[in-house]
Amino acid sequence: MNFPEYRPRRLRKNENFRRMIRETALSIDDFVCPLFVTHGNGVRNPISSMPGNIQMSIDTLMEEVKKIHGMGIPAIMLFGIPDSKDELGSGAYAEDGIIQRAVRKIKDEVDDILVITDVCLCEYTAHGHCGILEGSEVDNDATLELIGQTALSHVRAGSDMVAPSGMMDGQVGVVRAMLDDEGYGDVPIMAYSAKYASCFYDPFREAAEGAPQFGDRRSYQMDPPNSSEAMREIALDVEEGADIIMVKPALPYLDIIRRARDTFDLPIAAYNVSGEFAMIKAADRLGWLDGRKAMMESLMSIKRAGADIIITYFAQEAAELLRQESLVWPGHR
Ligand code: PBG
Repeated sequence: MNFPEYRPRRLRKNENFRRMIRETALSIDDFVCPLFVTHGNGVRNPISSMPGNIQMSIDTLMEEVKKIHGMGIPAIMLFGIPDSKDELGSGAYAEDGIIQRAVRKIKDEVDDILVITDVCLCEYTAHGHCGILEGSEVDNDATLELIGQTALSHVRAGSDMVAPSGMMDGQVGVVRAMLDDEGYGDVPIMAYSAKYASCFYDPFREAAEGAPQFGDRRSYQMDPPNSSEAMREIALDVEEGADIIMVKPALPYLDIIRRARDTFDLPIAAYNVSGEFAMIKAADRLGWLDGRKAMMESLMSIKRAGADIIITYFAQEAAELLRQESLVWPGHR
């Protein structure tokens, strides 16, 4: 059917028609809220490049987690800032590390919110790389054991799901095997499968204090021009036991999310990263666009591309807006 028999505008005529044929809806169920936990007491350090986000000590974190839980957001994702760093990133897998303590406390005090923990060494190594060094290179196989130890220590503390993010080859398999060996066969892995070496992580590196002290992450994170390679990375993680696969960043990589959706039938998470958040906040502050609309349109595009789960610094703001509307977006009030 062609014009003039077919007129797409007929079904756009009013909001009820638009509601009826809408293909995608956002809901609070889609969101994971990332949080930054640091040492100290009563800490609420603003992160300048991520307005509204703060580094929190564990006591402050508890208030925040309770608030997030009260808003109906199903999950948080924790990043730790240790009080000291070393060559081996030992704070990442210490029994009384910052994440381990935070998780125990949340599990003690808050019922029924999923705690996902990012498993990486970069916030804990003095050099800021995601693994241990051999000369100036990150040694893949030597790092695997430490990634496994980190995941295991998180799960022992009560983490509901671990998310290995270091882009070391074989990391998902090692984490799966170590969890299984210790009796944690029921704890799922959310794998940062297609994680690109992106400039959009820059605000996060201020937030988590994990910038590499020399060089960059291009020898382990993916090269932005590649798409087929992302499918191979995901296939490996699926083979190694990933329960959820992730594409990161989200907005500049919507094509990768879509291709993954069409290729794999596992749940897909997309990480709407710090730089994507910062851009919208900055433009909103300058009055160049409506930040709330840009937020919702961006989150919608990530869902439309094929993501089931969106990890986003907008989680609380978007959840609030969804509550004011009809719990779906676009709302119809
Ligand atoms: C740790 C990690 C990073 C992010 C999530 N986990 C930083 C990096 O890889 O450099 C970035 C998240 C964001 O920018 O919001 N490896």
